[in-house]
Amino acid sequence: MFIAVEGIDGSGKTTVIAEVAKALPRVYVTREPSGGPIGRLLKEWALRGGTADPHVDALLFAADRVEHYKREIEPKLREGYIVITERYVESSIAYQGAAGVPIEYILYINSVVPRPHLTIILDVDPAEAVKRIKARGSLEKFEDVEFLRRVREIYLARARAEGYPVIDAGRPAGEVAKDVVAIIERAMASLRR
Ligand code: TMP
Repeated sequence: MFIAVEGIDGSGKTTVIAEVAKALPRVYVTREPSGGPIGRLLKEWALRGGTADPHVDALLFAADRVEHYKREIEPKLREGYIVITERYVESSIAYQGAAGVPIEYILYINSVVPRPHLTIILDVDPAEAVKRIKARGSLEKFEDVEFLRRVREIYLARARAEGYPVIDAGRPAGEVAKDVVAIIERAMASLRR
């Protein structure tokens, strides 16, 4: 089973995914930007203000994703793991969409990779998210309250349109993780049917 966990910066994805991985058998955790060469280019260059045009970000994130899927996700799914990725296509729709790239364009350049069986959105108030990010260090390219408000609106609109579960991530990580585990277990049971 292939699962994507999404949400704005500071929504607690990393902590929650680590908790979820402890509660379920045979979980493989991964993330985007990936650890591959295009992921590194994103982290070391594009996310440090290297690009002025959000289309370039969209193309790089999509290229990283295709490579990540083929190199890491697909083989782990074949080995029978539950693969949980922190961020996937919905991150590009929400962030590059908020930066002005048309959603149809983002969908098209991401149409090469399969959709996850399940996408879960961790939802938190952007002001609270920025507070959390500041507490752990300095702010990066997309970590601005006004920008994150636009990102959140797109995530929530997509969740409504696509039927993605939205979890209140303003609560302690343990509680959020419990809800995520319950959703995954339900989805696994309905896949088996
Ligand atoms: P991270 O903070 O979760 O490691 O992600 C790095 C940043 O990259 C984060 O601000 C979200 C952004 N991002 C996009 O803008 N588009 C994407 O497709 C992905 C995967 C991440």
